Amino acid sequence: MNFLQEEAYQNGIDRVLISEQEIKEAIRKAGAQIDAEYQGKPLLLVSILKGAFIFLADLARAVSIPCEIGFMQAQSYFENTESSGTVEIILDLTQDISNYHVIIVEDIIDTGRTLSLVAEQLRARNPLSLKILTLLDKPERREVNLKADISLFTIRDEFVIGYGLDFAEYYRNLPYIGVYQPEKK
Ligand code: IMP
Ligand code: MG
Repeated sequence: MNFLQEEAYQNGIDRVLISEQEIKEAIRKAGAQIDAEYQGKPLLLVSILKGAFIFLADLARAVSIPCEIGFMQAQSYFENTESSGTVEIILDLTQDISNYHVIIVEDIIDTGRTLSLVAEQLRARNPLSLKILTLLDKPERREVNLKADISLFTIRDEFVIGYGLDFAEYYRNLPYIGVYQPEKK
């Protein structure tokens, strides 16, 4: 599949699942909830790269209390639509998190394997508290016991792209969440 060909790229987008407006509204509410819960507390928003980069950028601007931002990257997904078994932290935080209330900001919880490992590692560093906030949740696909504290949208078992989420590294820059359409044979 060569996504540099305009036709192949466009054919990969089946339909819009969640519009820009719906995302915006959900983020506005999540921001207000964070403002209310973390007022006066040292807050660190931890974005899991790459998928959550756009979500974090918009969410951070919907939060109006003081907060810090950190990035982590975990590798668990390759160039196909299935999760692999192993997860490796390839980029870590620079902050000592023991003096922060931490919110992990994730793009999607699918099998849950990636996030459960990341959360376990962060919990071992004794943050003041640790919560998980995800833009999307695909509960049907869960393989480990993991629940988000805040989930903006629950979706069916479909492979989604856009708003940070990729297929083979493409489509992250779509402004909405779409459903990926595999190549017709
Ligand atoms: P999990 O470990 O199976 O929960 O999946 C973790 C990662 O897989 C997510 O952070 C995404 O990067 C990727 N992923 C899972 N489902 C999708 C999808 O529908 N579209 C794009 N990426 C996905
Ligand atoms: Mg990915």
